Amino acid sequence: MSSKVSIQNLEMEYTLKDRLVHALTDINLEIEDGEFLVVVGLSGCGKTTLLNILGGFFSPTGGSISLDGRPIEEAGRLNRAVVFQEYALFPWRTALGNVEFGLEMKGIEKEERLEIAMKYLELVHLEKFAHFYPHNLSGGMRQRVAVARAYAYEPEFLLMDEPFGALDAQTREDLQSLTVEVWKKTKKTIFYVTHNLSEAVFLADRIIVLAGQPGVIHKEITVDIPRSEDFKRDVFDPRFVELEKETTEAVRGN
Ligand SMILES: Nc1ncnc2c1ncn2[C@@H]1O[C@H](COP(=O)(O)OP(=O)(O)OP(=O)(O)O)[C@@H](O)[C@H]1O
Ligand SMILES: [Mg+2]
Repeated sequence: MSSKVSIQNLEMEYTLKDRLVHALTDINLEIEDGEFLVVVGLSGCGKTTLLNILGGFFSPTGGSISLDGRPIEEAGRLNRAVVFQEYALFPWRTALGNVEFGLEMKGIEKEERLEIAMKYLELVHLEKFAHFYPHNLSGGMRQRVAVARAYAYEPEFLLMDEPFGALDAQTREDLQSLTVEVWKKTKKTIFYVTHNLSEAVFLADRIIVLAGQPGVIHKEITVDIPRSEDFKRDVFDPRFVELEKETTEAVRGN
């Protein structure tokens, strides 16, 4: 496999009125094409910062990043999609209109757009709510629309920031499985941030543990547990439990 993303000596400092906040330092990371990378670490260690830089929302203050071998600044936005920590839907568009948005950007015709958008709304079990506006949906439902919107768009590189944090356990598990399924079928590269370490082991090919302030890469853990035919991993597999423990300890700084 080749590198989809290459991050070299990355530094990020935010400039506030009276001081600098050094959020990330000396980050070196290769993300393979088609890899499912999960980033974990304590609050404030720079996970969202790294995701925002990869999404093209901020420029790093040092180092370089390339996407498909080209500087990331030159790469268009159209090959990346982001699901944020909190849903960021367009309030003036229905659920369907939100899912259609990226497809419009891609120039897909109305009829096909409708078909694709409905397919993904069905996948997140919201087909009956297609014509609802965000303010008439629950928080979890809005997050599912946000997920459908990102998947429908079929980006090359999908960035997800605690996308399922606010959902009930059952919906969360459904969407985890769906995420792995969509990933397997579409062979996209995923950069996924979570605080849930069981979720990290369930989803990841590799887990990156960030730690400290400024955040550094504290540890990399390869998840060498096969997935079943329905794309799942057995959470009772002794290796699963072992890796979850290893990740927990790494997050605590060991
Ligand atoms: N826009 C900003 N301006 C200034 N400082 C910021 C900004 N965004 C983040 N920071 C600072 O950068 C550091 C890393 O923040 P970041 O949001 O990346 O952490 P995180 O790992 O995503 O945390 P959490 O798990 O709580 O979401 C923190 O010290 C934070 O205060
Ligand atoms: Mg964050």
